[in-house]
Amino acid sequence: MTKVLVATEKPFAKVAVEGIRKIVEQAGFELVLLEKYTDKADFIKAVADVDALIVRSDKVDAAVIEAASKLKVVVRAGAGYDNLDLAACTAKGIVAMNTPGQNSNAVAELAIGMMIFMARTQFNPGTGTEIKGKRLGIHAYGNVGKLVASHAKGFGMKIYAFDPFVKKEEMEKEGVTVVNSVEELYAVSDYLSLHIPANAETKKSIGYNLLTKMPKGATIINTARKEVIDEEGLVKAFEERPDLKYASDIMADNHAILIEKFGMRVFATSKKMGAETAEANINAGLASANQIVGLIKNGDKTFQVNK
Ligand code: 3PG
Repeated sequence: MTKVLVATEKPFAKVAVEGIRKIVEQAGFELVLLEKYTDKADFIKAVADVDALIVRSDKVDAAVIEAASKLKVVVRAGAGYDNLDLAACTAKGIVAMNTPGQNSNAVAELAIGMMIFMARTQFNPGTGTEIKGKRLGIHAYGNVGKLVASHAKGFGMKIYAFDPFVKKEEMEKEGVTVVNSVEELYAVSDYLSLHIPANAETKKSIGYNLLTKMPKGATIINTARKEVIDEEGLVKAFEERPDLKYASDIMADNHAILIEKFGMRVFATSKKMGAETAEANINAGLASANQIVGLIKNGDKTFQVNK
């Protein structure tokens, strides 16, 4: 029987797992669950005889792929697939997919929440500021960036964006001011919301040069990936600019140093929680299950990322 493994170190909400089970079993497949595993060896063992795999941020590296001798498809239930070793998948003829857009609103709402949280002194006593009327720079206008822009408009923010992969007119028709360079974006942003993927070009791409271009009192909101930040550059910029603030959905590698040096100017969640809503889990989880059934039954490769 075709086996589908859900391997999630950070599990889906129960309701999402039930939905995944229904789709998998209705297709005549078997669901295998490996949740909250702490030992990579358990993942390697579980993947050995499965045909399909659903993960979240779980690392599907060469060792996992090597152990998965029957694997035909792996779906990253989410947007960023930097946790999948695409070359290893391709080498073994495994289709790798993501589920773009399915958890975007949850991440976008967290970005807005983090902006307000930072503006209001992390909900500690003290005089904060309002986000109304402030300039918000959206660094990459994909599914999440677009939603952050739309929600932020409701708060009366002025929206700017830079994304060389999206047509200028598309952003402009949504009331966004499109700037011509990434430098220009940072220079106009009281708040800068990061939505770039983590890849060879973007890793450590946000550092001293961009951060020191930001206006006085600016805040960087990172619900993308910690890897896109040049942490040494951030430290240098923050030492030079005591007005800057940084909020991140997941701790930087040097989080302890950042807190020690900059205290309340820095905030990070202990576990990535952008997509931690029942709705996002249901959307991305069910989409993953449907994509697996679609591929195995009908050869549907929509959302394949290792073409
Ligand atoms: C994504 O890329 O979709 C988000 O970062 C969500 O990651 P998660 O599934 O680990 O919560």
